[in-house]
Amino acid sequence: MSTPAPIAVALDAPDLETAARWAGLVTPHVSTVKVGLELYLRYGPDVIASVRGASGVQVFLDLKLHDIPNTVAGAARAVARLRPAILTVHAAGGPAMIKAAVDSAPHTKIAAVTVLTSLSESDLDRIGLIGPADEAVRRLSSMAVEAGATALVCSPHEVAAVRAEVGPAITLITPGVRPPGADTQDQARVATPERALADGADLLVIGRPITASPDPGAAAAAIASALRRTT
Ligand code: C5P
Repeated sequence: MSTPAPIAVALDAPDLETAARWAGLVTPHVSTVKVGLELYLRYGPDVIASVRGASGVQVFLDLKLHDIPNTVAGAARAVARLRPAILTVHAAGGPAMIKAAVDSAPHTKIAAVTVLTSLSESDLDRIGLIGPADEAVRRLSSMAVEAGATALVCSPHEVAAVRAEVGPAITLITPGVRPPGADTQDQARVATPERALADGADLLVIGRPITASPDPGAAAAAIASALRRTT
């Protein structure tokens, strides 16, 4: 069996059984599965064991924590015992909050989410985040890394600039990834898996191109083997 591809399959499932089934189908082919807020808030910590199954696949817990440092420290400690490989926090929570998460979950990679790709330039203006967006992403990226984050989440369109900003040691995670010809759904600025990796991404978040396929295992295997041919 070849090494699993650097893909985190977004398990955006309506229920736990579906999430666990998808996880079982894709885990021979990908390194990671991603559990988001909806699933975690509905089913709680048990969801982690259910999707991990017997495979030992890495779990990316995408809770995007954002609160005062003391509260985030407590939340990070609470989920650290589930041993997620990756836990997200919002970079905009600031350096002390990021450091609190890093210190409270020493076996988990803390990934800072820079600017949500759902925000337009005018939203950023209204929030008071000085743009343009790609500059804000670079600024938040270097702040988060100085605070101790060892991973960042950014769009594939910003990944090359972020890589140049933070150097080779930081794990860059990119959603908005679509295989050539795939339906883009609600993702506005997409890149192919090959392009995102070439631009410096380390882990590709891919959801519906895999999970909405009639055969999620085969879809994951196809993307993984296409990546192996080009990298
Ligand atoms: O189905 P799709 O491949 O679009 O799923 C992408 C996943 O990445 C979803 O779980 C979505 O919430 C997440 N995500 C994103 N864009 C961001 C941050 C997270 O699409 N900027």
